[in-house]
Amino acid sequence: MAKISFLALLLLISSTAYGQLSHKYYSNSCPGLQPLVRSIVQQTLSNDPTMGASLLRLFFHDCFVNGCDASVLLDDVPPFFIGEKNAPPNMNSLHGFQVIDAIKASVESILCKNTVSCADIIALAARESVAFLGGPYWAVYLGRKDARTTSQMAANINLPPPSASLQTLVSSFSAKGLAPWDMIALSGAHTIGQARCANFRQHIYGDSNVDPGFASFRRQSCPPAGGDSNLAPLDFRSPVKFDNQYYKDLMAKQGLLHSDQELFNGGQFDFFVWLYSVNQTAFFDDFANAMIKMGNLPPAGSNGEVRKNCHRWN
Ligand code: HEM
Ligand SMILES: *[C@@H]1O[C@H](CO)[C@@H](O)[C@H](O)[C@H]1NC(C)=O
Repeated sequence: MAKISFLALLLLISSTAYGQLSHKYYSNSCPGLQPLVRSIVQQTLSNDPTMGASLLRLFFHDCFVNGCDASVLLDDVPPFFIGEKNAPPNMNSLHGFQVIDAIKASVESILCKNTVSCADIIALAARESVAFLGGPYWAVYLGRKDARTTSQMAANINLPPPSASLQTLVSSFSAKGLAPWDMIALSGAHTIGQARCANFRQHIYGDSNVDPGFASFRRQSCPPAGGDSNLAPLDFRSPVKFDNQYYKDLMAKQGLLHSDQELFNGGQFDFFVWLYSVNQTAFFDDFANAMIKMGNLPPAGSNGEVRKNCHRWN
């Protein structure tokens, strides 16, 4: 009898040590959390709907580098600490930090002090953004801890570039335990948001699998040289609506990034692009499931904490 409860205790300890996530993680310690995040995200996006894409992308870039641990939020402290923020895939490109800060500040001041991790706030803000812009809604697992360190190199290694081939995209997601169809569903995030000319110039001037009318339209604001930071919508037909238009764009050879068009270019996984283009429900279901999977990527280190300020470790 004593032996059995000892074992049960051991199991309990080890499962918390491995940081099992749960939907109810804050249901006693911070019950108002999800409504608060929802209301701040809704207010923010009512004023500026483009912020939804930025919050969604923050979650991807957080999770792909050492797991979902808010490592992406750590400010550089040169010369001692150089983190992810100024890695080339992120610098002058990631936005939405101030929204995370506003949520964190509200949580700390009016709801529950020293309780909710910055990593969980990113996960919730991403979910609320997608829902607000017309996409699916899913239950977010919670209980992540915030990283005490990270590195710029980790961001450079783990985040796939827009020049990536289908094979590179498949392998960079499979390195995270995500299947090709997860990768294709998650790429549907590009149904919202914008990219800089520097990231799609090569595609609209150099690639052959581009609709010519689309290419000349995009060249108007993205010259062969200069204008690197000029923005264009990833899905110009409905840039702030989370729908399945992105996949229809790809089928019309109107993907903005080289990596986007790679998903529908006569390759092995064209079927999924077609499927999502004709069935938005299938896309929404698979996207939500893949977001949950991506959100479960475990942090590299085990010494996580709940940061007081999302910009730095305690
Ligand atoms: C499949 C590999 C992916 C590649 C190569 C890629 C690459 C990019 C690039 C180059 C940009 C434009 C950045 C800029 O020009 O400043 C971008 C924007 C964006 N990405 Fe991805 N991405 C990928 C997957 C994802 C995933 C999985 C998500 C989320 C689930 C995502 C969400 C977004 C969003 C929402 C934007 C727009 C951000 C904004 O407007 O602020 N991407 N991506
Ligand atoms: C669309 O996908 C959903 C979810 O996978 C499925 O239940 C439904 O039958 C599909 N609809 C059509 C018209 O194929």
